[in-house]
Amino acid sequence: MVREIVKYPDPVLRKKARPVAEVTEEIRELIGDMLETMRAASGVGLAAPQVGISKRVIVWDVGDGPGALVNPKIVRTSGSQVGPEGCLSLPGLQGTVDRPDRVVVRGLNHDGEEVRISGEGLLARCLCHEIDHLDGCLFIDRADQNSLRWLDVSDTEEELEDEALPLPEPLETAGHAG
Ligand code: NI
Repeated sequence: MVREIVKYPDPVLRKKARPVAEVTEEIRELIGDMLETMRAASGVGLAAPQVGISKRVIVWDVGDGPGALVNPKIVRTSGSQVGPEGCLSLPGLQGTVDRPDRVVVRGLNHDGEEVRISGEGLLARCLCHEIDHLDGCLFIDRADQNSLRWLDVSDTEEELEDEALPLPEPLETAGHAG
């Protein structure tokens, strides 16, 4: 089932999401719905707070097939990549974000088993972005503030004038560490 994507500045996007005690049928259903919702919105990743559920669950598909992690934790990072990023909760906004080029993430899979996922390039960027969501951190907090631009959603080639739409304001309230 496709769920509604919560948009900024909904407060659930700024809350620290709760760990999942057990991967139950309800969590599996949430994962399935999140993948469906992400695909319907043509996204490459989604975190549970973006469908209004403040739990530590993320999904992604950067073109190599779907993935999901419960209680994900970044255990290693290396390198760096600087590139454009956006978010389904801030539609039309883009900014340049510096992320690690490689990450190793630990968490529980769909079956509740402990797994490790290694990501490079876009997958590394995506995993970092989605895990940030679980701590109430949005890409606008990490982006080069001068790079933030509203794209014209009717023609993404063209950028709107800077003053056409206000940028989101409270960038200092993320409450994330590291
Ligand atoms: Ni996002």
